[in-house]
Amino acid sequence: MTDTVTQHWDPDRYKRTAGFVAELGAPVVELLAPVAGERILDLGCGDGLLTARMAALGCEVLGVDASPEMVAATRARGVPAAVMDGANLGFDGEFDAVFSNAALHWITDYQGVLAGVYRALRPGGRFVAEFGGQGNVAAIERALQDALARRGVEVPSPWFFPAPTAYRAALEAAGFEVVVLEHFPRPTPQPGDIRAWILTFGNLYLGHIDTSEHEAVVNEAVAALAPELRDTEGNWFVDYVRLRLRAVRPA
Ligand code: BEZ
Repeated sequence: MTDTVTQHWDPDRYKRTAGFVAELGAPVVELLAPVAGERILDLGCGDGLLTARMAALGCEVLGVDASPEMVAATRARGVPAAVMDGANLGFDGEFDAVFSNAALHWITDYQGVLAGVYRALRPGGRFVAEFGGQGNVAAIERALQDALARRGVEVPSPWFFPAPTAYRAALEAAGFEVVVLEHFPRPTPQPGDIRAWILTFGNLYLGHIDTSEHEAVVNEAVAALAPELRDTEGNWFVDYVRLRLRAVRPA
């Protein structure tokens, strides 16, 4: 068992098993409606696919991510990117917009995030984001928690999946005007079975037990999840629930 458990990012594995993340981010880019010449911060840019898309539209983009591997993958697309803690952004009034797709649930210091986003925006700038909301991946978390509990290991959710009312209050407390805030289920088809998802994203659970036990835990979770997340043709879905928002720093 490890004391400090972290998520490891492997851009090659991510590309193979999580390509759907950026694809499903397209409506978030639409909600942002980026305009050529705008300066946009992509918070939690991951491998930079959407960052590059906004750059191709003529925006001046900067990607930031806590993972050096992901920042390297973004730079490899020819897009500027920097390693940065999303809860401690170091910008002041520089951006027309802050964009974030499928990243904010990794940062539990949401007040730090919102204070930094607010500071990074020019007055009148917008914050457009989508991430996991209340109920997100609930079945997967339950299956992993149950498998770990059978080994005497209790792991509370490591992620931040807020209820919409609580997140609206947090946005307003940080000074934002909330324009759009939606909370909706988005069951998401997987390229393979749910095992690949758990191995790509589940280290904050699996990291609590010895690697020799990982296979058995994952097998138990897969078996427990099949009735809920696999259809009659054998296709797997992740029980995603999204929170999507557009908020403005008042002018
Ligand atoms: C998500 O995109 O909702 C997510 C991805 C990995 C772990 C937890 C949530």
